[in-house]
Amino acid sequence: MSDWVGVVLAAGEGRRMNSKIPKVLHRVGGTPMLSHAVEGLQQSGVERVLVVVSPHNSEAIRDTLGDSVEYVLQPEPLGTGRAVMQCADATTGASDANVLVTMGDAPLIRPDTFKMLMTRHLNSDAVLTLLSALDSEQRDLGKIRRDSSDSVQAIIEAADAEGEDLGDEVNAGVYCFNASWLSKNVGSIPASSNGEYYLTWLVEAAASQGRTIETITTDNAEEIMGVNDRISLAAAEAAMRHRTAEKWMKAGVTITDPASTYIDVDVVIGRDSVIHPNSHLQAGTKIGEDCVIGPGALIRDSTIGDSCRVLLSVVEESTLEDEVDVGPYSHLRPGCYAESGAHVGNFVEVKASRLGRGVKLGHFGYVGDADVGANANLGAGLVTCNFDGARKHRTTIGEDAFIGSDTMLVAPVTVGKGAATGAGTVVNTDVPPYRLAVGVPARIIERSPDKPASDAT
Ligand code: UD1
Ligand code: CA
Repeated sequence: MSDWVGVVLAAGEGRRMNSKIPKVLHRVGGTPMLSHAVEGLQQSGVERVLVVVSPHNSEAIRDTLGDSVEYVLQPEPLGTGRAVMQCADATTGASDANVLVTMGDAPLIRPDTFKMLMTRHLNSDAVLTLLSALDSEQRDLGKIRRDSSDSVQAIIEAADAEGEDLGDEVNAGVYCFNASWLSKNVGSIPASSNGEYYLTWLVEAAASQGRTIETITTDNAEEIMGVNDRISLAAAEAAMRHRTAEKWMKAGVTITDPASTYIDVDVVIGRDSVIHPNSHLQAGTKIGEDCVIGPGALIRDSTIGDSCRVLLSVVEESTLEDEVDVGPYSHLRPGCYAESGAHVGNFVEVKASRLGRGVKLGHFGYVGDADVGANANLGAGLVTCNFDGARKHRTTIGEDAFIGSDTMLVAPVTVGKGAATGAGTVVNTDVPPYRLAVGVPARIIERSPDKPASDAT
């Protein structure tokens, strides 16, 4: 739909949020509200999207959206009508084009709804097609006033209703305009009693000119929710959470209690995975098939393979291959990579480390800045002493190594393939392959006579 120009209004003050952050950048489902609006338009086939920003929020919004959109500056917050007027230069280029306007604080409108509205607009001779809903709950939305023959006459803001009973049909703030009609009329919007220029006045204008106004009334009132304060932010979050959970349940994921499961909108989950309560799957996370996640998992910006298990644990910016299990009560901090079959048990912290295939790290300990070879067995209470007070150092543990309980590996240090350490050893020197380190500080002795002598050098 390349003859459409999309406009997202984001230059309001958002005072009711009482926030240092621009209102439209508050997140719903882990994604800024404004990004939901922009992506909704783009997914509806609108290639060119203008975002109206203010001098106060322009920088933060540009940092968030980058160059995926064009920016139009509204110097003063004089209302939604002024915001659209600001776009006049950008939208009058093609006279047969249409303009789709939506609000940056309405994150729940689906691409299909935009498309339906655009199709209705194109198939009629309307200069203006708007989206409404029947909703008696949201009291701060504008109301649609219709005449006795049901034609739309005006939109009346709640504050201006003056006791008039306007019924339950509310204005979503989403409009398709004929571009040339819009550019002829947008400059005529008068100031309202509070000094703001209301975009909604154009409805009155079209009606008084006898022009056709089309409407689509969605039966999903929640979809048109506008977020003006933290209370409606929480309501939008709950609605988005419900929607996301339903999407994944339909796609074959079991969610035992959707109300206490928090899945950000960009998360991907494979079939037959089970998500248990109090789990948070946050932005950038991908979960494979047949996993069991939770209860009580928090996974952020991580890739989890198939058949993994994460119980009562935190995984951040890390990758787990297949059949890895973590928890209860462990923490994989950024930069971990666990190969297939690795086991991270109870009360373990791992940071910026690679755990080879089948590594066992069953009981409390700290592994940071380490490379651990396949099938190494790391005993309870292992600590990689990676920080000397000034700098961090790496630890390397060879495959099949056996690290005894309560071993301190003072980095930089290497424990060779098949080597072992005794309980309580403080290892401050490299341990050659197949040798045994014991004591404080470590002494190196033969590990076991049955190891091949050629390897034990
Ligand atoms: C507006 C509509 C209302 C509708 C509701 C839907 C008007 C006058 N009212 O009310 O009928 O039911 O949206 O959510 O249009 N903005 C600007 N520049 C401004 C003022 C606002 O860009 O000068 C932006 C805001 O950043 C926001 C959007 O426009 O994203 C809506 O502004 P807001 O003040 O929240 O309007 P509502 O009172 O919700
Ligand atoms: Ca609003």
